[in-house]
Amino acid sequence: MSIHIGAPEGAIASRVLLPGDPLRARFIAENYLEGAECYNEVRGMYGYTGTYKGERISVQGTGMGMPSHAIYVHELINSYGCKTLIRVGSCGSIQEDVKIRDVVMGISSSTNSSMATQRLNGMNFAPTADWDLIAKASEVAKTMGLNMKAGNILSSDSFYDENPESWKLWAKYGVMAVEMEAAALYTLAARFGVKALCLLTVSDSLVTKEETTSEEREKTFTQMMELALETAIGVEA
Ligand code: HPA
Repeated sequence: MSIHIGAPEGAIASRVLLPGDPLRARFIAENYLEGAECYNEVRGMYGYTGTYKGERISVQGTGMGMPSHAIYVHELINSYGCKTLIRVGSCGSIQEDVKIRDVVMGISSSTNSSMATQRLNGMNFAPTADWDLIAKASEVAKTMGLNMKAGNILSSDSFYDENPESWKLWAKYGVMAVEMEAAALYTLAARFGVKALCLLTVSDSLVTKEETTSEEREKTFTQMMELALETAIGVEA
């Protein structure tokens, strides 16, 4: 038991997929995992454990934004001993060549959040994904014929910004897309010595204002899920 996850010791696998939406966690468990059992319902933030191709895998909802995400990641690592954490989420593109429905891998994450600078006495940390997971995901994406984009993403503290054009400054620095969690995940993974990766599907474009339909989101999400699951079982837990 931890404060926000009501699971007994041993109920959560070493490899965990992390969607923001708890209903996505349920969808993944029902559609991809064999023998999935729900281990958490606290705050409706569902968590399930089952097997994928014979390997034990968990999937845990984390909510939106870095403070919520960080609570689940901290407890998964420190109370349940989880070692491989892969976020599966959505993002908004801020580059012309990053199209809606594309899959994006965050090699690193810039941020406007002060969570990491608070931890490091005002200094800047460069949140970075785990190399083994980056390499494995690139390999799996190629095998799947996926045109995955990889690079720097932005983890933002706000969805509705005071200045709706603030993303343009990040875009000038080559940042590909905006989401709201990866920087916290990468920072905590580094602090506690575990592997982390953030995989995203582009749900909307801040450049062209296009948005995916819910049916399209379902389909692209499926490709990203397969990529995440194959990546998770492809590295040492
Ligand atoms: N901003 C932040 N997070 C997001 C967005 C966005 O435009 N789209 C999907 N996740």
